[in-house]
Amino acid sequence: YDVIFLGYPIWNGQAPRIINTFLESYDFSGKTIVPFCTSGSSGIGSSAENLKGSCSDSAVWYDGTRFGSAVSAEDVAGWIHELDLPIR
Ligand SMILES: Cc1cc2nc3c(=O)[nH]c(=O)nc-3n(C[C@H](O)[C@H](O)[C@H](O)COP(=O)(O)O)c2cc1C
Repeated sequence: YDVIFLGYPIWNGQAPRIINTFLESYDFSGKTIVPFCTSGSSGIGSSAENLKGSCSDSAVWYDGTRFGSAVSAEDVAGWIHELDLPIR
């Protein structure tokens, strides 16, 4: 895959450490990573920024977003559409 959607819950304002382990465990060189989180109320904050150190420097990160429990499939589809990703 060239584009990876990286989803995680916010725990104490950050991504759970297992997400760092995931990023350290595979080669994401040259990949595009689109982070998103779920949470009770917190925004994505610095969580995505703080994951970058666990990943290849050559990965391209999109700005992330946060979804709450009331998000609809249409909301998610609209977000993906607006990203205008370099894919067919
Ligand atoms: C240990 C822990 C810490 C959490 N910290 C936060 C937090 O700082 N801010 C927040 O809005 N939600 C927090 N939550 C709520 C989770 O983000 C929420 O449960 C999750 O996004 C929903 O996914 P889940 O169904 O996998 O739990 C926390 C949940 C847990 C279990």
